[in-house]
Amino acid sequence: MLIRIPRGWEIPERDVTPEALVFGRRAALRAAAGLGGAAIGLPALAQGAGHAAADALPAARNAKYPPGRDITGEREATTYNNFYEFGTDKGIHRAAQRLPQRPWTVKLDGLVGTPREFGIEDLLKTMPLEERVYRLRCVEAWSMVVPWTGFPLSALLAQVAPKPEAKYVRFETAVLPSVMPGLRQSWYPWPYVEGCTVEEAMNELSFVVVGAYGKLLPPQNGGPVRFHQPWKYGFKAGKSLVRISLTAERPKSFWEAIQASEYGFWANVNPEVSHPRWSQASERVLGTGERIPTQLFNGYGEWVAGLYTGLQKERLWA
Ligand code: MTE
Repeated sequence: MLIRIPRGWEIPERDVTPEALVFGRRAALRAAAGLGGAAIGLPALAQGAGHAAADALPAARNAKYPPGRDITGEREATTYNNFYEFGTDKGIHRAAQRLPQRPWTVKLDGLVGTPREFGIEDLLKTMPLEERVYRLRCVEAWSMVVPWTGFPLSALLAQVAPKPEAKYVRFETAVLPSVMPGLRQSWYPWPYVEGCTVEEAMNELSFVVVGAYGKLLPPQNGGPVRFHQPWKYGFKAGKSLVRISLTAERPKSFWEAIQASEYGFWANVNPEVSHPRWSQASERVLGTGERIPTQLFNGYGEWVAGLYTGLQKERLWA
């Protein structure tokens, strides 16, 4: 009999962390592959409570990007979410468990030499997985620090050979009306689309995320695969990606289509440029509630400021 293992927020952290750590990479991949088909609606299946979690996804931490702040508690990061396909409030984590995580395919197409489809198991097995502890600053002025597992977007793009005329990358996310009640809000321009320039996509910080806290990425955080560019506001990080296209035209994002005066294409974090309705000077830390100053480029200027040389005329700051 298959028993559902409670997700991270349902059990004390002390029960899960050591188990995830003792799991080998091979075991994690076997476990991930074992979710195929059977896992519809039940992301984590295993032998029984108290045993090692089937969704463990350990990867060596890359220490090059120290977050400078404490890691946000797993419970906070996985129960306070923005995922409008499941509803507009922050408490969608239970509803999101209905999002099937297997099978899952990400299509890479557009201006590429070799269009391809990647199954999530292929990505987990073949991409150079590492853990990066990145800050995430939401445009709503809250923030968190999460140990994400994933790989650089550049490694994925290398597999499809972008053509020289490709200038932008368009990210499209899943639309599954049978499990996503938010889609009934038909005035929103579904699907959730985001985009960046090819240069931004190739930056070493641009990260395709398949895990968090040493486990497969839970659906409410964008499982099984999402994007993250930590120097931009969090809405740029499309969740539950199904398609990545290389284009000549700048993609219009979900939020830009809704309210272009408030949410632009670039959306780089800048404490000195207020949102039309609130200040961006500081942020509320998820979990502790502490208020701290927001940093230019969310503190990642060392890696990304050079991307914007000569672009001062653009509206670079959301
Ligand atoms: N992706 C999709 N598909 N739908 C969404 O509503 N919300 C965005 C982004 N990605 C969103 C999305 C916003 S506004 C933020 S701040 C982050 O996801 C939140 O990620 P988190 O829930 O993991 O903190």
